[in-house]
Amino acid sequence: MNINNQILKQNKADYISLYPNLIFGIFSNLILKFKKMKNLLVALSLFVGLFVHADEGMWFLMFIDRLNQRDMEKMGLQLTSEEIYSINNSSLKDAIVQFNGGCTAELVSDQGLVLTNHHCGYSAIAELSTPEDDYLTNGFWADNKKDEMKPNSLYVRFFVRMDDVSKRILDKVNEEMTEDERNTAIKEETKKIEAENSENGKYVVSVRSFFQGNEFYYFVYQDYTDVRLVGTPPASVGKFGGDTDNWEWPRHTGDFSMFRIYADNEGNPADYSEDNIPLKPKHHLPVNIQGIEQDDFAMILGYPGRTNRWLPSGGISQNVKFAYPAWVEASKEAMDVLKAYMDKDNGVRLNYASQYAGIANYWKNRQGMIDALTKFKTAETKAKNESRFNKWGNKKKNKIYSNVIKDINEYYALTNGKARHDNYLRMIFRGSKFATSSRGFGAQLAEYAAADKEQRATMKTRLGDMIKGFFSSIHIPLEKEMLFEMIDLYARKANYNLPASISNVKDLNAHVSAIFELSILTDETRMLSFLEVPNSALLENDPLVLLSDEFIEHYYASTDEIDAAKDKFDRAFRMLVEGMRKSKLSPVIYPDANSTLRLSYGKVSALPVDSGNDAKENYYTTLKGTVNKYVPNDAEFDLPKELIELYENKDFGPYADKAGHMPVNFLTNNDITGGNSGSPVLNGNGELIGLAFDGNIEAMAGDVIFDKKLQKTINVDIRYVLFLIDKYAGAKHIVDEMTVIK
Ligand code: ARG
Repeated sequence: MNINNQILKQNKADYISLYPNLIFGIFSNLILKFKKMKNLLVALSLFVGLFVHADEGMWFLMFIDRLNQRDMEKMGLQLTSEEIYSINNSSLKDAIVQFNGGCTAELVSDQGLVLTNHHCGYSAIAELSTPEDDYLTNGFWADNKKDEMKPNSLYVRFFVRMDDVSKRILDKVNEEMTEDERNTAIKEETKKIEAENSENGKYVVSVRSFFQGNEFYYFVYQDYTDVRLVGTPPASVGKFGGDTDNWEWPRHTGDFSMFRIYADNEGNPADYSEDNIPLKPKHHLPVNIQGIEQDDFAMILGYPGRTNRWLPSGGISQNVKFAYPAWVEASKEAMDVLKAYMDKDNGVRLNYASQYAGIANYWKNRQGMIDALTKFKTAETKAKNESRFNKWGNKKKNKIYSNVIKDINEYYALTNGKARHDNYLRMIFRGSKFATSSRGFGAQLAEYAAADKEQRATMKTRLGDMIKGFFSSIHIPLEKEMLFEMIDLYARKANYNLPASISNVKDLNAHVSAIFELSILTDETRMLSFLEVPNSALLENDPLVLLSDEFIEHYYASTDEIDAAKDKFDRAFRMLVEGMRKSKLSPVIYPDANSTLRLSYGKVSALPVDSGNDAKENYYTTLKGTVNKYVPNDAEFDLPKELIELYENKDFGPYADKAGHMPVNFLTNNDITGGNSGSPVLNGNGELIGLAFDGNIEAMAGDVIFDKKLQKTINVDIRYVLFLIDKYAGAKHIVDEMTVIK
């Protein structure tokens, strides 16, 4: 029950705004009470400051009734809070799943059909593709359920319920504890909560910290692992515009793909089996193709991954000057290595497409953040607020907060070099499939070598399959060059405490080549023979295992000075958030995103910047704009001929807008971030009008500070999705499965 008093107060203010007469009554009373005009002005500005702003905020479903329901109704919501989130009855939340850990998807039929972004299904689609059957390039639609394809690993996660365990957990800690002791105590209690709610493994239970360790909630989930590909447009549609258009508006991307969840006969999760049947969900979203207009209510439910709205100014400066530049630079080098090999060989392209897209996505994002945070002077703004906080914290009654800002700033000052270093090192891990080998295959082979005969027999087939699978999906020349280039960049630029083996090497390229020649882990035959004749000593002295161990140790290495500063910092950051909420000095009143289910509400909304859009209003785009961008055979702006024909014949079926245009993408002012990809955009009736898939570059600072004017969510119009399935792909049977509101 404790999201906080501040929000409750705000809601009162909101309540007041709904009833002007009431407001007037209250104010006349206030006027009587306040003798001086000055006091009245202060009171007025407080009321204004306390008003809930609909667009900003990622809200918990269990609190919407108290915090947001009235505001949402005023904006056009027709559902009750019980229809959105109910523990006992089916509700909207039962149609929303977390998709493969990092995205969101929604149920759109009573036969387990799920809709998500193309970029969320991307790795599964690439995995199922071969140069001969290249679904990534050509698209795919299953004619019937038998043709649906099961990728190796793909799962969806249903949200069952959540609850507040703040008191229970905070009762286990006290102010005398070090941060380590505190974390240990929290972990212990967390384990108990997880065990109590998992129903013997039926559910996944996760306890998460909110408001920087000031509150705790647990979440109960159920995972389904038999998830199959139903259909996808070709990448020229699903990723139209590529990295050039990524994070940009105006946009023209058909960023969607479809999957189906399978279950056993009782509807329970089950490993893949031909006998599994499509899941009958508790709720699926109706699809509304009546179209949207500016200012229409729009609500998004999904799993935003990470925001940092409480990040201190020192952290912002550290990111802008040290962490992100290293991230951007190393990403670009990794992309260059990947691209050189992907361009040469179609098989390599498919195997590395997903890794490339992931790195490229955050390469552009982090540069966008550097630019936006610099342009808007976000660190300076926050620093000003922190000095206000400092003043407040140095009042006698608040003195427990007196060192908060100092401790925070000292930590950042001490770790700037490390932040840069860590980002170069992290890109070695993200770029190379071998850099952490000692934790991967290295550890598994060691376990195998240490096992007895009987255990080995059961491990052998599984390991053998994994080894073969791994080597069929990688390209050794690429991997060798990647490891070399990433280490080389790190050695030249990290400028901080390099691992001994790297700083001593004269010819790094020859060194990396030798490791690839000599290691067991870089060759399929050597790995498979190891399974025949396991030998622990061989692994312990393996040059790749040694290198990898060194990197990992080094990554976690610290100094006493940093450890001490970190302990103070963790405490100070927690106190900062607590104090900011108490003093009401922070405009942020909702918890940061942390991959838990949230609701964001706002409206269909135009971007005020002149963007050279094809549509008259700058809140949507049309197929005309798509075709305007068309560049034949281009890697990013090519289009399928059939789509252009449909456009030329204006053959849009029932999916065109009133003026006869085919809508493609639209904007809302919802507050979302990475992880929300694939989230449903819902109208006031809880009907699907689109899928969220991106943010705009102008507001790339959004993870740290929400900009009401500039921050938009870019969505695929559901009419474009249905048009592509029905008219372009000819898979009308899929549309027929859905509940379409015309
Ligand atoms: N920017 C999108 C997100 O982070 C991903 C878009 C993928 N498309 C692309 N061209 N890389 O959700």
